[in-house]
Amino acid sequence: MTVGQAPKIKVAFIGLGVMGYPMAAHLAKAGHDVTVYNRTTSKAKKWVDEFGGKMALSPRAAAYDCDIVFVCVGNDNDLRSVVLGETGAFAGMKPGATLWDDTTDSAIVANELYAKAKELGLNFVDAPVSGGQAGAENGVLTVMCGGDEDVIEKCSSVAAAFACSIKRIGPSGSGQLAKMCNQICIAGILQGLSEAIAFGKTAGLNIPLVLDVISKGAAGSWQMQARGLTMEAGKFDFGFAVDWMRKDLGICLEQARKTGANLPMTALVDQFYSEVQNRGGGRWDTSSLVTLLNTEPKK
Ligand SMILES: NC(=O)c1ccc[n+]([C@@H]2O[C@H](COP(=O)([O-])OP(=O)(O)OC[C@H]3O[C@@H](n4cnc5c(N)ncnc54)[C@H](OP(=O)(O)O)[C@@H]3O)[C@@H](O)[C@H]2O)c1
Repeated sequence: MTVGQAPKIKVAFIGLGVMGYPMAAHLAKAGHDVTVYNRTTSKAKKWVDEFGGKMALSPRAAAYDCDIVFVCVGNDNDLRSVVLGETGAFAGMKPGATLWDDTTDSAIVANELYAKAKELGLNFVDAPVSGGQAGAENGVLTVMCGGDEDVIEKCSSVAAAFACSIKRIGPSGSGQLAKMCNQICIAGILQGLSEAIAFGKTAGLNIPLVLDVISKGAAGSWQMQARGLTMEAGKFDFGFAVDWMRKDLGICLEQARKTGANLPMTALVDQFYSEVQNRGGGRWDTSSLVTLLNTEPKK
């Protein structure tokens, strides 16, 4: 999809977390008139102090008169709670406006809210993102969209403020299904990378040197480039939280049960993440899988 120069418009951003805070900032820096809402008001105040714009005390108030309402919250029920009901965004949106959901949630909630939006004369796009905290801060996220082609085309020039790639995958729900493919890949890649690092350590190898060499060959990956050295050093206090990954893998496994797909590796890695949570690592980065493996040489 070609993304042109966006006209300056009125937008809202709901959910100023690790991802939403910098994404909303890019919209403000691109010159759009941004109103933010965050459940914890202090974060919205801090955002307005830093980037200007306005804050609202409900999703409904934030959405008032906006052309696009961006949302990036936690899971399906969090999304429903900021979109539906008397204080939800849908109640404040003008006819023809679009709710653009950047949360990673299920295809079920995407289809449910797409249908509800149509009933109300609104638009809904499922638009989960990949690229992590760094991608959000640098405005280079990858966005995979499900929904109406003309609506996605129209909104893409605005969303381009925080993205380097925005692609329509198919009808409503397809963006979330593509994000599930993304998370299935990440689970397998991180487990493989963890085992390679642990194996190399037990064999007494210089891991930074090994990673430098193999990252340039067929085993190279974003995870190896961005996380290999921090995994080696045992640093996990950043990035994409294990709690969120378990939510995502749960969505993948549920979807697989519906479509008849087999996800043996995903189910196994999900159990490993559950063990990381048991050990207190729920907010650690997903690369913390390596903490479950022995790295000491056999005596
Ligand atoms: N972090 C990443 O690297 C990454 C990458 C790709 C996709 N994602 C996805 O993006 C979404 C957000 O992730 P994040 O890392 O930004 O999470 P986060 O830092 O935990 O932020 C979550 C945001 O959602 C709000 N929220 C949660 N539940 C809510 C509710 N019931 N009502 C109102 N607001 C609610 C939180 O408000 P409070 O401030 O009041 O808690 C906060 O603003 C998740 O679906 C995640 O899976 C994250």
